Amino acid sequence: MKKDNVILIGFMGTGKSTIGRLLAERLGWTYADSDARIEQEQGVTIPALFERDGEAGFRELETEVLLRIMAEGRQVIATGGGAVLAERNRRAMLDNGFVVTLQASKEAIIARVSGDTGRPLLQGNLEERVTTLMENRKHAYDFADFIIDTTGLQPDDIAARIVQAREQAFRQQHASDEASQ
Ligand code: S3P
Repeated sequence: MKKDNVILIGFMGTGKSTIGRLLAERLGWTYADSDARIEQEQGVTIPALFERDGEAGFRELETEVLLRIMAEGRQVIATGGGAVLAERNRRAMLDNGFVVTLQASKEAIIARVSGDTGRPLLQGNLEERVTTLMENRKHAYDFADFIIDTTGLQPDDIAARIVQAREQAFRQQHASDEASQ
């Protein structure tokens, strides 16, 4: 059986941490943020880590931390926007929980992340960086169990819809398990 986790994926600034905290409260599970866990364990910020180990070094730590958090179970996990780039991570996410993509418009994303110095991939011309990365990652978040467009929705509403979608998926899974017995 799939491990009980909800794994939030999506581009930077789509609200994974905000929604993750709310969801964890609703489910009575633990909220975990993979970037925060990496920073805590390594004792450096994400930008400093990119400086120290390069993006490739960061990605290795990201996989390792994600696998460890998922193994704990009953976690609502806010992943970094690039965690989906590795096939290994995508497979592990689908095997270990209910994977949810948060989508937001480019304008909303730019408004949310502007002035933020904590995201090394967005330094420089923000609009240009977001446009290029969004284009490169156009289909990177399509593999989720559930995709939600957050435009015009309140965080509480988004969390409620995710809980509902998870319950529905659970019921469907249960029904198809019964039918195949
Ligand atoms: C990244 C997203 C960031 C962080 C790192 C790289 C990405 O997390 O993991 O800066 O490649 O999209 P958030 O999505 O929480 O900003």
